[in-house]
Amino acid sequence: MENLKIPHHIGIIMDGNGRWAESRGKKRTYGHKHGSDNVDRIASYAFERGIKVVSLYAFSTENWQRPKEEVDELMRLLSVYFKRFLSKFVKNKIKVKIMGDVSALTPKLQKEIGDILEKTKDFDGGVLCLGINYGGRQEIVNAVNSLIKNDQPVTVENISNNLYTAELGEPDLIIRTGGEYRLSNFMLFQGAYSELYFTDVLWPDFDENELEKAIESFSGRTRRVGKVL
Ligand code: FPP
Repeated sequence: MENLKIPHHIGIIMDGNGRWAESRGKKRTYGHKHGSDNVDRIASYAFERGIKVVSLYAFSTENWQRPKEEVDELMRLLSVYFKRFLSKFVKNKIKVKIMGDVSALTPKLQKEIGDILEKTKDFDGGVLCLGINYGGRQEIVNAVNSLIKNDQPVTVENISNNLYTAELGEPDLIIRTGGEYRLSNFMLFQGAYSELYFTDVLWPDFDENELEKAIESFSGRTRRVGKVL
C-alpha cells in the first residue's frame, strides 16, 4: 500500500446502480440510494489516501431522458446528500464545486447547492466536484462561445480556463465502474491525457479495496503525455 504514486485528481463515472438493484429484484431507484451512500464512503477514503480532487458524474445532460420516477429520485438523493454533506465534510474542510448547468434544477435544489458552495468556498482540505446536469461536449461549446463573445483567441489554454474545472486542473485518473468501456461525455477536454481504469464492479459494490486497486493500477503506469521517455 505504501510507495504508491497517488493521483492528485480522480474522476469517477459511477455506473451500475440500476443493474445492482435489478439483480436483487429491486427497483432501479433502490440502486441509486445505495449508490449515493457509496459516494461518501469512496470520497472520504480518496481524501484519506491523499487524493486532493474527486470529480464525480452524478447526473448527465442525457439523464433527463430517464423515467420521471428515476429522475425525481436522483434529484431527491442529491438534496439529501447536500444536507448530509454539510455536517460531515464541512468538518473535514472539503470544498464543493459543481460542474454542469444547475439552472435546470428546482429552485430548492439550486438554493441548497448555492448554500454549500458558499459555505465551503474557502476550505482547503480537498475538493469534491459534482457533475450535475453535466455534459463534456456542451462544456467545451460553452467555453468556446464565451471566448468568442469576449473577443479572446480560441486556444487550448483559454478553453481550459473557461471550463467548470478551471481551477481544478485535469484528472490524472478516470475510473468507470459497471463494465462499460466509454467516457459517456464525461470530462472530454480535461481527460485528454487521463489514465483510464475500467472495472466490472457495479458502483454500489465499489468499495475502498476497489479504489485501492485503481490507485495501484495508476501507480504502475508511465505517463508519457505524447513524449518519448
Ligand atoms: C449510473 O447507474 C449512475 C447514475 C445515472 C448516476 C450516479 C448517481 C448516484 C451515484 C447517486 C446520486 C449521486 C449523489 C452525489 C448523491 P445506472 O442507473 O446507469 O446503472 P445501470 O447502467 O446499471 O443501468
